[in-house]
Amino acid sequence: MTVNIITIDGPSGSGKGTLAAKIAQHYGYHLLDSGAIYRLLGLSLFHRQLLDQLEHNIDACVQVATDLDIQFQGSEQGLEVRLEGRNVSQEIRTEIVGEYASRVAAVPALRAALLQRQRDFAQLPGLVADGRDMATTVFPQAKVKIFLTASAESRAARRVKQLQTMGVDANISTILANIEARDKRDMERSVAPLKPAINAKIIDSSDLSIAQVFEQMTIYIDQCLSH
Ligand code: DC
Repeated sequence: MTVNIITIDGPSGSGKGTLAAKIAQHYGYHLLDSGAIYRLLGLSLFHRQLLDQLEHNIDACVQVATDLDIQFQGSEQGLEVRLEGRNVSQEIRTEIVGEYASRVAAVPALRAALLQRQRDFAQLPGLVADGRDMATTVFPQAKVKIFLTASAESRAARRVKQLQTMGVDANISTILANIEARDKRDMERSVAPLKPAINAKIIDSSDLSIAQVFEQMTIYIDQCLSH
């Protein structure tokens, strides 16, 4: 039996995470939040004071990536994420850990070290994989490929709302500048840059609600899976 794989790639704030979780639940599939893996590696390298040595001490950094002790578990509050047994679900969603992740993600040897770990999530009956290079690099054989995007302004507005619900004060122009800088780094890196796969369906969520995107996605996925 083949494992059905649905990839959902796109920039942060496009609604990928929320949609990927809903789609996985709808089809009863497993969920891979690959961004969380990059965030966990960033946090782990920071704790080990290796984050500033990505270039000079790459062997040690690759070793950390290879040995990364992480666990994912669905919970009522969403995805519970553990690093070395410690619940870091909230910590990895902070801006600063996003910044660590983006630095880690630009290093080819670290991406390579995380590849198999991501592929191991592909288990029956199927997988929804959320990230930047799910369709282009990690699961090029995926049956369904979706690229979810949105304007930088609407992503910044969503992020501010999200931070406010977490009780964090947020300044929209700072957030927008961060988003634009991260997009640039993610799109311009030489390895696995953020770009739609040639056969991906592109959905722009700027002016759509989550329910509207969900509907568009399920119609498309049902079509692909029935072939
Ligand atoms: O989706 P996210 O914001 O949690 O991702 C965190 C960072 O990791 C972001 O800078 C992009 C990077 N990333 C990546 O390069 N490849 C992935 N498959 C997932 C995330």
